[in-house]
Amino acid sequence: MAAIRVSSLTLLASTSASASAASSVFTKLQFGPSWGISLTAIPLCSRRTKRMAHSIARATLGLTQPKQIEASKISIAAKEIDLVEWKGDILAVGVTEKDMAKDENSKFKNSTLQKLDTQLGGFLSEASTEEDFTGKAGQSTVLRLPGLGSKRVGLVGLGSAVNSTTAYRSLGEAVAAAAKSALASNIAITLASPEGLSAETKLSTASAIATGAVLGTFEDNRFMSESKKPSLKSVDILGLGTGPEIEKKLKYAEDVCAGIILGKELVNAPANVLTPAVLAEEAKRIASTYNDVLSATILDVEQCKELKMGSYLAVAAASANPPHFIHLCYKPLGGAVKTKLALVGKGLTFDSGGYNIKTGPGCLIELMKFDMGGSAAVLGAAKAIGQIKPAGVEVHFIVAACENMISGTGMRPGDIVTASNGKTIEVNNTDAEGRLTLADALVYACNQGVEKIVDLATLTGACIVALGPSIAGVFTPSDDLASEVLAASEVSGEKLWRMPMEESYWESMKSGVADMVNTGGRQGGAITAALFLKQFVDEKVQWMHIDLAGPVWNDKKKTATGFGVSTLVEWSNDLGTEVGDSSGQDCWFGLSLGQGMRLVMRRGSDWFWGGPREQGILVGCKEACSPTWVGD
Ligand code: BES
Ligand code: MN
Ligand code: ZN
Repeated sequence: MAAIRVSSLTLLASTSASASAASSVFTKLQFGPSWGISLTAIPLCSRRTKRMAHSIARATLGLTQPKQIEASKISIAAKEIDLVEWKGDILAVGVTEKDMAKDENSKFKNSTLQKLDTQLGGFLSEASTEEDFTGKAGQSTVLRLPGLGSKRVGLVGLGSAVNSTTAYRSLGEAVAAAAKSALASNIAITLASPEGLSAETKLSTASAIATGAVLGTFEDNRFMSESKKPSLKSVDILGLGTGPEIEKKLKYAEDVCAGIILGKELVNAPANVLTPAVLAEEAKRIASTYNDVLSATILDVEQCKELKMGSYLAVAAASANPPHFIHLCYKPLGGAVKTKLALVGKGLTFDSGGYNIKTGPGCLIELMKFDMGGSAAVLGAAKAIGQIKPAGVEVHFIVAACENMISGTGMRPGDIVTASNGKTIEVNNTDAEGRLTLADALVYACNQGVEKIVDLATLTGACIVALGPSIAGVFTPSDDLASEVLAASEVSGEKLWRMPMEESYWESMKSGVADMVNTGGRQGGAITAALFLKQFVDEKVQWMHIDLAGPVWNDKKKTATGFGVSTLVEWSNDLGTEVGDSSGQDCWFGLSLGQGMRLVMRRGSDWFWGGPREQGILVGCKEACSPTWVGD
């Protein structure tokens, strides 16, 4: 035992050596409170080594160490400054095709452009004509013109689309790209015609621009031997308002971006670096960073066995890297909870297919590090939620992390496995492993007493065939949950498409010897996968499955997308604030909340959340309430 223990310790120590203090991922494995938890878990892991092949994990295989990259934070601020006065490297203006219209004297009709052009002695108009800049979406030009406080002025085309999140996000991205090529550190972004926008639209526009700028600046260089730090340090958003409301919105956008970036880093990390153990360490690190609201439980093989997770453990059985079942729990400050949710993510750190090995062109085995994209979305959301701290919701983040490998200890095609709800599964294809891990994860999620579950998984190639590379499939028997999550995705800009759960297709999932098989053939493969998952969810729980096999990865850019994070955060946050929406239509208290304060009201036996944090929130109701102050 001692020897095994030493080797396990070596594993963790060397894993941590490979994990530099990179922009947060795989860092500090050797430090912090998580270390203590690992130590207690080790003897339990080792006991199992006789029966399974897991004893020697090889997290350092290939001797790759993610580079130490200091997280470079871009500071984003909403300001009202005269464009001509603004000092910095690039002043970027988002212009529509209409904004580019000129009068008979070749002068801009748009007042913003006209003012800039006058200040620049007519060069802006001249140069934009020379460059054939017409304001079409995707066009941009950066001009070095003297006469302004800013060194350069940039024009970015918004096309004809106004009020579109995508267009404004692209504006942010275009500006980030311009900042990169000009080595600019301070930029300002504004719109040529912000006048028509409602107060609400100004907020979401500012948020989309900020998101584009932050995500457009991010480059994952951890595994490159040479790389440059991004030059961009600050973004001023001009002309869309100032004050606590827009600041709150921008802070929210930054928090979501931090979650998306974590999601991307987790997916980009190769399977020799990001093993199930490392994923679990990352999860613990998120929990300890936000330990005022998050807690972590990591189950090892023995503990999963006690919970009878035979389906999940069968998938893990061939790997030298042991499985780790991850459970983070978010509880809001103050404790009042209206809705309990679980976000469940498929966490296959690598999917070889098992004995039904992935072969042939197009099987994408070389990309199967992305098979933990569902768990990356869930952990990215955990980070963002830990930062945002929405009121009124309890959120469970659940990942049955493991690898699908091949060895003498692995499951064979034809084996019958038993899931933790007692159902038996004939494994007619070892490559349909994600659903086997999710089966036990969903049973576990239901046991947490949640009302709603959303699972996310890179589950089927069939879903990519159906919807292409950038749209995720949504499967749910609940119309209510569908409308909630789809509404959240409208805001986040992530593309989701609801698919049918055709019960008659269950026919193909019947087994002659067990309760079901795990694969129903090629036809309707994404649907039969969803029907399989449904077998493991309590009927009284609202449940949705999101198949993100397509959008998890950007093939052109050869990088992860962070898909799922922003929809999950938006949805969780909406459910939280719904509680606060008891804000009295009937009678209002005018209350000024200090920074970090929340208001809780009691009506009968129910608790209601008032508006959080920023000043001047109004809350009230007709019946007798007893307002109580709760500090963060
Ligand atoms: N991880 C894959 C799904 C996948 C394939 C994602 C390609 C992204 C790109 C999953 O575990 C899998 O192998 N699914 C099989 C299911 C089949 C055996 C029923 C598939 O889609 O081929
Ligand atoms: Mn597979
Ligand atoms: Zn898979």
